Amino acid sequence: MPNILLVGNGAREHALAEAIVRSARQPRLFSFMKANNPGIAALSEKIRQGGYADLAAITGFAREQQIDFAVIGPEDPLNHGVVDALAQIGIPSVGPNQSLARLETSKAFTRRLLSKYDIPGNPQYRVFSTLAGVKEFLDTLEAVVLKPDGLTGGKGVLVQGDHFASKDEALALCAQILKDSASVIVEEKFDGEEFSLQCLCDGKTVVGTPLVQDHKRRFDGDQGPNTGGMGSYSLPDHSLPFLRPADIEEGLDITRRVAAALLAETGSPYKGVMYGGFIATKNGARLLEYNARFGDPEAMNILPLLKTDFVDVCRHIIDGTLDRLQIEFASQATVCKYVVPKGYGLPADHPDASAAKARIEVGEVGDARLYYSSVDKRDDGLYLSASRAVGIVGIADTLAAARRIAEAGVRAVQGPVAYRADIGTDALIQKRIDHMKSIRPE
Ligand code: GLY
Repeated sequence: MPNILLVGNGAREHALAEAIVRSARQPRLFSFMKANNPGIAALSEKIRQGGYADLAAITGFAREQQIDFAVIGPEDPLNHGVVDALAQIGIPSVGPNQSLARLETSKAFTRRLLSKYDIPGNPQYRVFSTLAGVKEFLDTLEAVVLKPDGLTGGKGVLVQGDHFASKDEALALCAQILKDSASVIVEEKFDGEEFSLQCLCDGKTVVGTPLVQDHKRRFDGDQGPNTGGMGSYSLPDHSLPFLRPADIEEGLDITRRVAAALLAETGSPYKGVMYGGFIATKNGARLLEYNARFGDPEAMNILPLLKTDFVDVCRHIIDGTLDRLQIEFASQATVCKYVVPKGYGLPADHPDASAAKARIEVGEVGDARLYYSSVDKRDDGLYLSASRAVGIVGIADTLAAARRIAEAGVRAVQGPVAYRADIGTDALIQKRIDHMKSIRPE
């Protein structure tokens, strides 16, 4: 009966909590959360609320509850060094230490790591800490992507054609980024389709999980501003229909080589999730970025499909014995739709922006699974915050059936909310297939 500490308060952590408590090892779950997630609270023996920079509060709670190991959900506590702090009091974690978490927290670190260890997948790129040379480099690239070096909550990346049009604007944006960030990464923009490859890693062994496609844009048809992710789908064969087997092999190969490079570079084994955001291009898979944790929403696609006991998975990650565990996922399709406040991701002067903080009713979601994200549970009910509210997941033998289940579940959430109706539809997936065919014909 292990005592497990979960750190995090989103829908991803609600899915993690569910995976932990359904273990046959009969774990007792203790959760440290920045905000009270009612779904996680209902599954936990005890919760403690506090900020993720308050390492003393997290370690104090862990000590009090005699925690055997911790599972760290979001990047924020990883960035603050929660894994190092827990290790100092003898508690191991599923999650990288602060130095290894640079895989996500410093895009410049990761680009340079791939270059130094001759790992394929990088775009043409340069890291700048001043504007010197930026214009000249911009002029060598056809189209560019600009990334502040640091955590941006998935919303800091600026893409030519989406967020700005010209190289002059790119230069001005670099100047703006350098006011807040120590450096800016200027990269070649890739044309292709994105996929999420979430891998489990014990420092030596890297195990891929079913591929997922996330949808970052706020509105149907991939329109509107980028968000933390509006929803995602996965298919029964654990692949995506616009990919070639070589794309997946390349993504896995890059991740294996990055895990080895991280060990060589830091001397510490990476224990946790290496979530590669890849893009399939005409020349194969390329790396957009790594995250040092499960994806949100992507965790909600894969964790419910996990047939292997999740507590065993965690123990093998911590012990460095993943090579001895058979990790299996059900051959089913999943569709996750995020229900968000109408104003989510919109500029403050947009008429819908005021919909945040309103009260919502959550009825029966039928066959769907419901994962709470940013909701505020008060005495008189549930209230929206400014962020994504509830993840609704349909799971079935076919994508169409999974989508129908998710759609029906979404309708159970009443209030000033919105969601993307097109996620998991044949039309949207066909658009991805046609796009890939246009850039790399058979
Ligand atoms: N799905 C995007 C993220 O988790 O960062």
